[in-house]
Amino acid sequence: MIKNCLFPVAGYGTRFLPATKAMPKEMLPLVNKPLVQYGVEEAQEAGMNNFGFVTGRGKRAIADHFDISYELEHQIQGSGKEELLSDIRGLIENNTFSFTRQHQMKGLGHAILSGKSLVGDNPFAVLLADDLCVGDTAGNGVLKQMSELYAQFRCSIVAIQEVPADQTHKYGVIAGESMKEGLYRISDMVEKPAPEDAPSNLAIIGRYILTPDIFEIIESTPPGKNGEVQITDALLTQAKKGCVLAYKFKGQRFDCGSVDGFVDATNYVYQNVYKG
Ligand code: G1P
Repeated sequence: MIKNCLFPVAGYGTRFLPATKAMPKEMLPLVNKPLVQYGVEEAQEAGMNNFGFVTGRGKRAIADHFDISYELEHQIQGSGKEELLSDIRGLIENNTFSFTRQHQMKGLGHAILSGKSLVGDNPFAVLLADDLCVGDTAGNGVLKQMSELYAQFRCSIVAIQEVPADQTHKYGVIAGESMKEGLYRISDMVEKPAPEDAPSNLAIIGRYILTPDIFEIIESTPPGKNGEVQITDALLTQAKKGCVLAYKFKGQRFDCGSVDGFVDATNYVYQNVYKG
């Protein structure tokens, strides 16, 4: 059972400036809850309870969010508003939150390596809070679906979805041999390829399960696309040494790193979660 989930949250969120000038992009709210809390709830639903955040300068609000706010709670004690904090109180009471800083922005692979001490020598999940994922019709979140696959196959797994050819330059893109409906054994992976270089239209989204040998592989992975250490490159090495799976998850994903995706996610949450 995977207990650890890493949240790389050091990125700047420049697409949302000036909103993200003094506030982490992960704290942008979808209606009444910050993006990062949806991610933590998804990980908790998958049975995880140890959450590690790889943060950077200007990201303290995330640590404050996952801590008790005595003044505020004292202030609203006995009023109807107490209930608004019950979900976040439950998260704080039932889980462990730890933080470390990525001192330099050297890519997602480097961010994950910076979180090594938070997850130890165990398999762990990585969740990019920019991607809001809604699970299958039975209510199983994407990380839960992936954890169940991990229990069966015991190797690293990335979540994928089909994207139009003109979008491959935004994602890691995989090629693989189909094992069964929606599951591939990866044979190639390319970080943000132009459409003509993309090995398929199957794009990695922000959910990973990684086995801990990935750390040693990242350490020896040279900078790739944009001069950054890419987790995609490290995973390709791992795939060639052994096995990495790609899973076409059941559910829906909103790219909250883009303004359009963020607005779509806001509408979805308003209609289906907040009002529903
Ligand atoms: C990162 C990864 C990329 C992946 C994407 C998913 O890119 O490098 O392989 O497809 O997350 O959201 P970023 O969006 O951080 O540029």
